[in-house]
Amino acid sequence: MIAKDIIDLLKKNFCLNWNGIHGVSHWSRVRLNGLEIAKNNGANERVIELFAFFHDSMRENDSYDPLHGKRAAKFIEELSLHFLGINQQEKEQLMTACKHHTDRLSDTSDKTILTCWDSDALDLGRVGIYPLSERLNTNFAKQDSFIKKCYARSILKP
Ligand SMILES: [Fe+2]
Repeated sequence: MIAKDIIDLLKKNFCLNWNGIHGVSHWSRVRLNGLEIAKNNGANERVIELFAFFHDSMRENDSYDPLHGKRAAKFIEELSLHFLGINQQEKEQLMTACKHHTDRLSDTSDKTILTCWDSDALDLGRVGIYPLSERLNTNFAKQDSFIKKCYARSILKP
C-alpha cells in the first residue's frame, strides 16, 4: 500500500485535477495492473506501487508534457529511502522507470522497470486507446485476456 504521508505529499505537489485522466484513479489502476503482472513475473512490488503513484505526479498539463517523467525522477531523488520505504537500488529502478516511461529511452531488460511501463500502458482505455500487445514488454501483459481485463477496468468511471 501507499502510505498516507506519501499520498499527502503527492496531493500537495500535484498541479492538475486530482480526479483527472492523469490523477489518482489512473494511479490506482496502474498499481493494480502492475501488481498483477508482478505476481506472475516476480517484479518488485514496492517499486511498482511507487511508480504507479509517482510517474505522472509532476505533469504540468494533461496533454503534451514530454519532460514530466524526468521531473518525477528528480522529485523522487530528493526523497529519503526511509520515506519511500525502499533501498537505494530500488530507488534507482524507480527513478529510471519514471524518467523513461514515455520515451522508453532506457534500453533495459529489468523486469521491474518493464512491468512498470506495461502497467501504465494497460490503462490507455481511459483516453480511448486499446492497448496493443506489440507495445507491451512482459509476456504476462501481452496476453489478450489480460489486456482485455485491464481495458475494461480503465474505461470504468472512477
Ligand atoms: Fe500514466
